[in-house]
Amino acid sequence: MTRSVLGILGGSGVYDLPGLEQLREQRLSTPWGEPSDLLRFGRIGTTDVVFLSRHGPGHRIAPSGVNYRANIDALKRAGVTDLVSLTACGSYREELPPGSFVLVDDFIDRTFGRENSFFGNGCVAHIPFAHPIGPRLQERIALAAQAEDIMVHRGGICVCMEGPQFSTLAESNFYKAMGCDVVNMTSMPEAKLAREAEITYAVIAMVTDYDCWHPEHEKVDVAAVVRAMQANRSRAQRLIMRLAADFPEVHESCPAGSDRALDDAIVTAPEA
Ligand code: ADE
Repeated sequence: MTRSVLGILGGSGVYDLPGLEQLREQRLSTPWGEPSDLLRFGRIGTTDVVFLSRHGPGHRIAPSGVNYRANIDALKRAGVTDLVSLTACGSYREELPPGSFVLVDDFIDRTFGRENSFFGNGCVAHIPFAHPIGPRLQERIALAAQAEDIMVHRGGICVCMEGPQFSTLAESNFYKAMGCDVVNMTSMPEAKLAREAEITYAVIAMVTDYDCWHPEHEKVDVAAVVRAMQANRSRAQRLIMRLAADFPEVHESCPAGSDRALDDAIVTAPEA
């Protein structure tokens, strides 16, 4: 039996969690370097919660500069069993306008040049990753949204691009034609590393814009993203508060295998 610890990774616009009780802040170092910010430990009801801001204080860390390994390792060391990642995203779907919350369930990884594994030469491992999102955790988010009367769209493919520039029109049309639903810059390699760390992972993607494909909407720019994130913030915080308040005390095993991902993943023989 493993006691649940709910991790929250705050993205653009969500830099803290005001409802955390018994707040304790701690700076953690990891063998991979420094996480983006100090970790905020606290409780919501009887649930242990750990909050980490992905872009750090004052939003100084760009998507390509986030030390994803340090963030996930720090959360693992903090005992996180279930991780909910908040992220701003652009939408490729008319019916997902700015302000929509999307519980994505799959990814296309278009990032490059980011450290994307805890493994490598010396200890080779290949985790299964067909289903990157923990369905039970996603279901709990959907239930919390229902209880709070917050509309969420369940399911969707998120393409994660390198950035920091937004897409060209050709890229935007391409990803849309490929069946992607939303686009962001931070879910990869975060989701991969969470799986390697055997942490159950889910994403609340908060639509801030229509990227640049939509003929009737302004091309995305930072001002629009920030305005939309500010409008989304209190709803996101309310959703997380409810999720935490209703969270099961004991970690639920993950049907996608996230909590046993390393069982058959490591190829390298242990040294004799
Ligand atoms: N984050 C928010 N909007 C985005 C967009 N249009 N493209 C990539 N990342 C985003």
